[in-house]
Amino acid sequence: LSRSNKKANAPLYDRMLLHHTQGHTSFHVPGHKNGAGIDPKAHETFAPLLRLDYTEIPSLDDLHRPEGIIREAQQLAAACFGAEQTFFHVNGSTVGNLAMILTVCANNDILIVQRNVHKSIIHGLMLAGARVVFLPPRWDEASGLATGVNLKDVIRAMNDYPAAKGVLLSNPNYHGMGIDLADIARVVHANGMPLLIDEAHGAHYGFHPRLPISALSSGADIVVQSTHKMLTAMTMGAMLHVQGNRVDRGILQQRLGMLQSSSPSYPIMASLDLCRRWMDTEGECSLDNGIGVIDYLHQQISLRLPHIGVLKRTEDTRSYETLDPFKITIHDRSGTYTGYQLRDKLGQAGCDAEMADVKHVLLHLSLASTHEDVDRLINALLDIFTPIRLEKQDILGEISNNNSIPSFSQISTPITMQLPQQRDFVNVKAIPLQQALGFRAAEMVIPYPPGIPILYYGEQITEETITYLQLAAKKGASFQGTKDTTLTDILVFIE
Ligand SMILES: Cc1ncc(COP(=O)(O)O)c(C=O)c1O
Repeated sequence: LSRSNKKANAPLYDRMLLHHTQGHTSFHVPGHKNGAGIDPKAHETFAPLLRLDYTEIPSLDDLHRPEGIIREAQQLAAACFGAEQTFFHVNGSTVGNLAMILTVCANNDILIVQRNVHKSIIHGLMLAGARVVFLPPRWDEASGLATGVNLKDVIRAMNDYPAAKGVLLSNPNYHGMGIDLADIARVVHANGMPLLIDEAHGAHYGFHPRLPISALSSGADIVVQSTHKMLTAMTMGAMLHVQGNRVDRGILQQRLGMLQSSSPSYPIMASLDLCRRWMDTEGECSLDNGIGVIDYLHQQISLRLPHIGVLKRTEDTRSYETLDPFKITIHDRSGTYTGYQLRDKLGQAGCDAEMADVKHVLLHLSLASTHEDVDRLINALLDIFTPIRLEKQDILGEISNNNSIPSFSQISTPITMQLPQQRDFVNVKAIPLQQALGFRAAEMVIPYPPGIPILYYGEQITEETITYLQLAAKKGASFQGTKDTTLTDILVFIE
């Protein structure tokens, strides 16, 4: 078949469907036997998908040694996303981030890493026992949000630590704010290092003129994408793309073999195959529809909702270079609602947002969003912002001073990342957060979402950190990684 004909196929999904229509009888796992064994009360909803919930039988290939339809599906994905090789994931970008770190980094190796990264990267660094040189993010004054790194910091860190095994950045951030990676890729390569990018939020990049270019087009060596986030795969469907020869693909494959299930989900893998086919055949057109919906949303907000502020990039914005149109970050300009309160109000009206922080609500749209979705949102916001309900609380001043993650403005010295061991907890005590100044944290503190660690295990607690965390707790953030989920107390080392 010519490449354009091949693109119109979804080899993995097509074969699974054929297998189903051939009416085979299963004498293999899974035990639900194509849905027959599911609780009858859930049969109607679950059964259709379970018909295709297969496992590694000879005709359906094996993710860990792909030689047939999975290999073909991954090759088509590589061509579609602009990679030389692509690996399907059934455990999200989480597993891609772990595998990419464990591929380039051994115990005690130095890796240069952007500070505001997802916890999966920190976990990968801990598993590797890497020494990390953290790069400070840039800060967007207007929103108080952390964005990407500065080129000059990357250069300085590489000069200071020439033995580093690579540079790992996360781009774009959760809010869709991104930086130009092409110059960074050039200097990283000039220093003989690979550039690793967590592009969990950018799987759709490069598929439409109004979207930023992808990390692969910018020259990154490994790129991890959550295909389920900004594109249309099932939850946990993700991909890792590789190009060039700076990364050992054999080791990468071996690491993925360790980290992914030996029974990877066929529905998830098939959804990656289908998503790739959709992008290959209808991608730009369906993204175009989605962008039309977004333009309509902006128009409605500016015409009808004067109290809603929307995050926008202007000519003068220096803290980031690109903004994903599918991420809409709003806040209440009247000062009535915190981001958390506004998210809850929207939820009560049946509109579930992606996440909130003290000030903002992040709305996630995609190529599948519709004008009807926008109408529902606008009606909910109109109701929430009925003038009679608006009552300015004195929160905005507080928010604007405290909304940002504490600004780590320096390149760090190498910090050894280790898995906490039981023996480390002998000298650990829970004390009120208020009294924790100067202690070293004995737990990671990760307000969620967006899942960016504010305190790393072993890191010293500053005044700035305490203030930020107290405010976040007061405004209803939930904390992962901490024993006390309300963060009244924090675990510290008594030294
Ligand atoms: C920047 C970033 N990287 C990685 C991940 C992990 O992705 P996944 O949920 O696909 O495992 C997330 C999840 O929110 C993320 O925000």
